[in-house]
Amino acid sequence: MKHDNVTPYNNKNSKKEQVALMFDNISGRYDLLNSILSFGTHKGWRKKCVKMLGVNRPATILDVATGTADFAIECAKLNPTKIIGIDISEGMMKIGREKIKKLKLDKLITLEQGNAETLVYGDNSFDAIVVGFGVRNFENLQKGLSNLFRILKPGGQIVILEFSYPTNPIIKAGYSFYFSYITPVVGKIFSKDQRAYSYLMESVKAFPNNSNFVTILNETGFKHTGYKGLSLGVAAIYYGQK
Ligand SMILES: C[S@@+](CC[C@H](N)C(=O)[O-])C[C@H]1O[C@@H](n2cnc3c(N)ncnc32)[C@H](O)[C@@H]1O
Repeated sequence: MKHDNVTPYNNKNSKKEQVALMFDNISGRYDLLNSILSFGTHKGWRKKCVKMLGVNRPATILDVATGTADFAIECAKLNPTKIIGIDISEGMMKIGREKIKKLKLDKLITLEQGNAETLVYGDNSFDAIVVGFGVRNFENLQKGLSNLFRILKPGGQIVILEFSYPTNPIIKAGYSFYFSYITPVVGKIFSKDQRAYSYLMESVKAFPNNSNFVTILNETGFKHTGYKGLSLGVAAIYYGQK
C-alpha cells in the first residue's frame, strides 16, 4: 500500500484528521511511551540532529510536527533568536507548552497550530527546519516537503528524523517482531488507543526509507542531501540544504 494511504483508523476521514485525532488521544502518554518503547534512545537521536544543525548557527528554527516539543526544546541549546513549533494536534502541543513554560523557554519557543502541507509562512523565512517522526504522517508527503523547501532560506538546512527499517536480516526480524507484537500491546495498555501503535509499524513499513527518501529530498530540490542510520538502522537522520 502507498504510504499516503496508510491511516490510523482506516475510516473515511482524511489522513490528516485521523492523525490529529490519534495524537490528541495519546498525547497524555506520548512522552512516557516514547521512552519505554525506544528504551530512552529517542533523546540521543534528537541530540545528534541538533548537533548537526549547530554547525550553521541558525537564528530562526521551525520544528515541524513538534508534538510535545522535545525537538524544539533541544534546539534551544543552539541559542537561536526564535523557535516556532507547529503541529495539527492541539493535545500534543498542550503538553509541549507546559514543558516549555516549566523550562522558562516560553519567550524563545512558541507553538502554533499548523499543517506542514499548507504553511502560512512566507518564502525563505527560516534558517533551519527540523522534523521529528512527522513526515511519515503527512497526508501528502510531496506537498509537505515542497512547502518546507519554500519557507527555508537559501543555504538553510533541513534535518529530518524518522524511523527506518534495518537491512540486516537478523536485526530486521527482531525489529519486525518487536514492532508487530510488543509495541502494539504496550501501546494499547498505556495509551488506551488500540490502533495507534499498530499504525506505527504499518506506516514505518510503507514509508520510503534510507536512499529512497534521499531521492525524494533531491526531487524536491534539496541539495547536499544524505542520511545517517541510527541504532542499527532502526531510525535515520536525513539532511539537506536549500
Ligand atoms: C510521532 S509525533 C512526533 C512529535 C515530535 N516531533 C517528536 O519528535 O517526538 C508526530 C507528530 O506529527 C504531527 N503531524 C502529523 N502530520 C502533520 C502535518 N501535516 N503537519 C503538522 N504536524 C503533523 C502529529 O500531530 C504528531 O504530533
